[in-house]
Amino acid sequence: MSEELLLPVPSVPPGDTGVAWLRSSVVRFSNGDAHTRRRALTERLLEGVHATSLDELATALGLPGALTDIAEIAPVYQPHEPTTAAADAAVDRLAVRRDEETAARIGLLVQAWAATNALAEHLRTGNPAPPVPVTRRAGGIVVSLEDHPFGHGPHACPGRTLATTIAKNTAFRALHHQDVPLVLPNAWDYASATALHAAGFLAVGTTSLGVAAAHGIPDGLGLAGEQAVALARMLADLPFPVTADLESGFGKPADEVAELIAHLGVAGVNLEDGRPHGLADPQEQAELIAAVKDRAPGVFLNARIDTHWLGKAREETADRARRYVDAGADGIFVAGLTEPREIEELARIAPLNVLAQQRTPKELGDLGVKRISTGSLLFRAALRHTVASAEAVRDGGLPEAFGYAEVQAMISRGTRSDAG
Ligand code: HEM
Repeated sequence: MSEELLLPVPSVPPGDTGVAWLRSSVVRFSNGDAHTRRRALTERLLEGVHATSLDELATALGLPGALTDIAEIAPVYQPHEPTTAAADAAVDRLAVRRDEETAARIGLLVQAWAATNALAEHLRTGNPAPPVPVTRRAGGIVVSLEDHPFGHGPHACPGRTLATTIAKNTAFRALHHQDVPLVLPNAWDYASATALHAAGFLAVGTTSLGVAAAHGIPDGLGLAGEQAVALARMLADLPFPVTADLESGFGKPADEVAELIAHLGVAGVNLEDGRPHGLADPQEQAELIAAVKDRAPGVFLNARIDTHWLGKAREETADRARRYVDAGADGIFVAGLTEPREIEELARIAPLNVLAQQRTPKELGDLGVKRISTGSLLFRAALRHTVASAEAVRDGGLPEAFGYAEVQAMISRGTRSDAG
């Protein structure tokens, strides 16, 4: 199968306008010298491009706001598909110049749009099949991409890293807009994150207590920033969306927090308005949120509101929720929230996250909750089980545990970044 991917791609006739011009000018449908030249151009255009969403990618490629036109072109981009007048018009709108570089920019975005949305949908639903199932070669050969989801050989996808980040961000966002709430378990290290994913959880968060305590640092004082960021970086390479608890940004100025998040590679972050000695001024917190969303629009920002824990009035929680959402927060998280009417009220403002509690996911979903996190519960349960297991051994028993090989398999599946 890999050898078939090395064969020439189908050739396309020359074209002066519309989709025909695009096809005849891009790397995707070129062979030989034209492919070598256009491939180098494509790689140069992608060099240093940083984007957390497809919109941001369009801007980075010099085509801001182009996604509506791209969505028109993508379904008829392949030469075996008949083109449409709407797609031809879309190409002509975007083709400010008829040169290879302009075609390369449009082509990159077309390739990115269809495949990245397909990958995001597979991540959202846990579908392990390749998002682009087949590709074609000259002579009508159809090649399965089962073993090479990002292709192989000279035409292999040059956008893989970027695509994976954007798809994870897109999938994570979509997981907050479903009829049933997302049950989001919180990990404290690499092994716990991969074990949770292996058990079928489609996304994983981190727990600040777990990360801090594992390093012998007390939680909630902003002292475990280095460790939290190091873990987030490690988990960002996993092939599923990860969201990192960054407390209140560890005392850094807003622009530094924004820059950090833009380059962390995680699909989501939690930022809380609690401070070591009380609550942040809501305006200051809104400015932090706005700075992060400006710099990393594709990263899901879950704004934790700590009023409840600190016994503040109910109105203050709703007021802060509205301010944070106006500043760009994608979701709100009120830890300690259990009262049904207040849950319903806050759930109307934005996707609402609560901690796991007596009510079932179905009951919480009926109240409008979109995300249920376990917070530090799993870490505390693991600690308890560790002690109970040691006690069992001391008392002559053998506790239940994952097998050695099972753990090895979990962490290697997690690092399987060479699947293409
Ligand atoms: C930022 C997003 C993406 C960009 C910019 C991008 C760009 C490209 C480009 C320019 C090519 C043509 C390379 C050539 O012909 O030399 C390509 C090929 C390919 N891409 Fe992507 N792509 C993106 C996302 C994806 C995703 C999410 C997948 C699926 C998992 C994917 C799968 C492929 C495959 C399988 C090929 C090779 C096709 C073949 O050999 O016939 N791409 N990509």
